[in-house]
Amino acid sequence: LSLHPFVHTILEWYPRHKRDLPWRNTKDPYIIWLSEIILQQTRVAQGLPYFLKFVENYPNVESLANAPSEDVMRLWQGLGYYSRARNLHECAKMVFNQYGGVFPDNYKDLLKLKGIGSYTAAAIASFAFEEAVAVVDGNVFRVLSRYFGVATDIASPAGKKEFEKLANELIPHDFAGTFNQAIMEFGALQCVPKSPDCTICPLREGCFAHNKKIVAELPLKIKK
Ligand code: ADE
Repeated sequence: LSLHPFVHTILEWYPRHKRDLPWRNTKDPYIIWLSEIILQQTRVAQGLPYFLKFVENYPNVESLANAPSEDVMRLWQGLGYYSRARNLHECAKMVFNQYGGVFPDNYKDLLKLKGIGSYTAAAIASFAFEEAVAVVDGNVFRVLSRYFGVATDIASPAGKKEFEKLANELIPHDFAGTFNQAIMEFGALQCVPKSPDCTICPLREGCFAHNKKIVAELPLKIKK
């Protein structure tokens, strides 16, 4: 079993540094979906209490699908981006009514659901079903652009495509879900946007940006 040194190092770093977050201790696609919708545009510290409230009130897709909209919106109160809450409820009804209460088990079919885009479909497919499809969020852009020295604009469609291609070439098929969690966690905790502590980084030797002293320059994001 030969992994790219980047992949090997990330997979070794992850269990030693990861935060213990409740949605990481399950393979239930409903719980994983709920966490990913709540965490979009929201920090873990802010989203966590909402996640716990939702799981307590609606432990499965049936209970959420059958809840009155007012109750769902009230529980979401304070999180912002209220279209997410409406889509959340619509998606639950769709899974309950059109899929017999069973979440689709693959990337392609997950993409058909209300409020589920490429990021969320990849997260559910890899975390719940171990499908080898890469998640690409802001953390992944940053880690890949710095380590591999990719200076393509992350705000452009071509940039997004290039990073998706690279991430999908790297993803280990035997550890797809763990690798996706790990690279996001590495971006959230070690390869942070401002002043990362590269002296303790396990990837520094092979890191393009570190070696060229351009860590602060990457990723490239051109304002629209
Ligand atoms: N932000 C979005 N998805 C996340 C996840 N699965 N774990 C931690 N933070 C996240």
